[in-house]
Amino acid sequence: MRKPTSQISPYGKLRFEPEIIPMRSNGCGELRSSHIASKVLLSGWVDRCRDHGGVIFIDLRDRSGTVQITVDPDQGSTLFALAESLRNESVIQIKGIVRSRPSDAINKKLATGEVEVLANDLNVLNSVRGNIPFSVSIHDEEPIKEELRLRHRYLDLRRERMQQNLYLRHKTIKTARDFLNKQDFIEVETPILTRSTPEGARDYLVPSRVCEGDWFALPQSPQLFKQLIMVGGLERYYQVARCFRDEDLRSDRQPEFTQLDIETSFMSQEEILELNEKLIAKIWKEVKGVKLNIPFPKMTWKEAMSRFGTDRPDTRFGMELVDVSDLVKDIGFKVFSGAIKAGGSVKCITVKGGNNSLSNVRIKPGGDVFSEAQKGGAGGLAFIRVRDKGEIDTIGAIKDSLNENQKKELLEKTQAEVGDLILFGAGDTNIVNKTLDRVRQFLARELKLITKQNEKDNWNFLWIIDFPMFEFNSEENRLEALHHPFCAPNEEDLGDDPEDWKKNLPQSRAQAYDLVLNGLELGGGSIRIHDSELQKHVLETIGLSIDQAKDEFGFLIDALDMGAPPHGGIAFGVDRIVMLLAGEESIRDTIAFPKTQQARCLMTQAPSEVSESQLKELHVKSTWIEEDS
Ligand code: AMO
Repeated sequence: MRKPTSQISPYGKLRFEPEIIPMRSNGCGELRSSHIASKVLLSGWVDRCRDHGGVIFIDLRDRSGTVQITVDPDQGSTLFALAESLRNESVIQIKGIVRSRPSDAINKKLATGEVEVLANDLNVLNSVRGNIPFSVSIHDEEPIKEELRLRHRYLDLRRERMQQNLYLRHKTIKTARDFLNKQDFIEVETPILTRSTPEGARDYLVPSRVCEGDWFALPQSPQLFKQLIMVGGLERYYQVARCFRDEDLRSDRQPEFTQLDIETSFMSQEEILELNEKLIAKIWKEVKGVKLNIPFPKMTWKEAMSRFGTDRPDTRFGMELVDVSDLVKDIGFKVFSGAIKAGGSVKCITVKGGNNSLSNVRIKPGGDVFSEAQKGGAGGLAFIRVRDKGEIDTIGAIKDSLNENQKKELLEKTQAEVGDLILFGAGDTNIVNKTLDRVRQFLARELKLITKQNEKDNWNFLWIIDFPMFEFNSEENRLEALHHPFCAPNEEDLGDDPEDWKKNLPQSRAQAYDLVLNGLELGGGSIRIHDSELQKHVLETIGLSIDQAKDEFGFLIDALDMGAPPHGGIAFGVDRIVMLLAGEESIRDTIAFPKTQQARCLMTQAPSEVSESQLKELHVKSTWIEEDS
């Protein structure tokens, strides 16, 4: 057995008997004044080379950081000539001695800035032959087009930003694992080739070669398996689980993403929330050094929708929605009164100082605020400016249709003062909510209501609870589960008598909860149904016949009948957590090999065509017709 003879650093940690020749003694970024006079062997990438009148300086970079290597012609002409020929990103090995830098050459920006390594040997481990499409250097901060970064992701990963993000991701997952392991959770893997799970997106399908004509679906989440793990008596499960959803992509959505998926038996909703708050607090402490205040505040879904128009409100700023439907239901301004008569509502937000900061050009058709409202589904954006002495001014119609009392009441309700601007949404309540939520968030960014400086104190975690069980899908004219059809209904709403369950279900709240942070949904979960009869009722409520329910979820219903314990859980979006911890704007910057907005991998060019023979073997025929053929 080989015996380590000395410990040097994580990089050259174990020195073995002579037959093992190490490739390095230290990491480049580790060297400090305490290393002066040490002989070192370093391996890494050439970050940049500079020829300073006869002396060559190489910035040598590895994962631990960068250090300056000095190549002096006195150390030999072959060595010097080799150094002169180096291209950036070549992989080299340097033998040398650490020495202090002259006082006027100390680089305070670099952790290794007090020292340099005088090279006495240089070995090129791999030279660069192709053109490097963008600079990887720590000295270059020029933004690089994302397309280029994704096409050559292996180079992008070498950059400091991605190295830090992936390290942060690793630390986040490690902290979560450590925490959950300590709480007696066990990690269990669930299948990737499986049946469709209804999480609301389209499935990625995989044809089966051996079961002709049948298809697997990639899991949208391990939902049913984790419930069956509870029926299996494992009591506390977690998994860092890859999930697949074929849905429209955004900066916080990827077709392939990672959940921290958790399920427990014999724990109440309150206990589950408490446990998960502790988990999140631990992650923020370990990864960010921030102490979060727990418990997190809770808000019902109803309140969130009413005050913010969304179930994932950003509570770092005000500008809350105010319902003025009652006030304007009978006024002459038909856009408002008509909306209410049609069963909708009129709501508004007050922009402090908006009379000055937002011109009519921005609010009227063609303007940026207007177009944001349009994206939310609104046809227009009515507004009122509060001028001197509380006089209100607008584009005619609203002002003229309000009497003095109504104007006064409006100002009171909205708490609008001189200099403020009130923006209105009128129509279908869902659209009004969506519109004002969009406009509110857009204006918060535009008017810089959330500043980078106070970001640290601005970790506004919030539990949204008491979601409705169902929402109405007007296209399909049926109820559908708001989360998924395995959430348990609120027991009070459901009633004690099973005879009433069917009748009470559609209006019931669910024992479901989402964790929201600064306007982003970080995770969601629920207490699950563990009674097979109730599960069948819920499946029926969303429009499944008994046969369909049996066909799709028979295995779950059977399992519930064989001693399923009360259970519940949650899943967090790992990519989103890391995005917020890293201060990134997109989850693409937290994933080693992400897909583009078109769900493509630019590096491997996946998805790609397959041969006719492969399709035939899989019993699949393509109906795709090339556009120009
Ligand atoms: P849900 O569908 O809410 O719940 O997903 C849980 C969390 O996963 C993250 N997430 C995503 N992240 C990136 N890209 C996506 N396309 C994407 N979709 C979702 C979000 C979200 O909060 N089975 C249930 C959980 C449960 O009930 O225990 C589920 O998957 O952060």
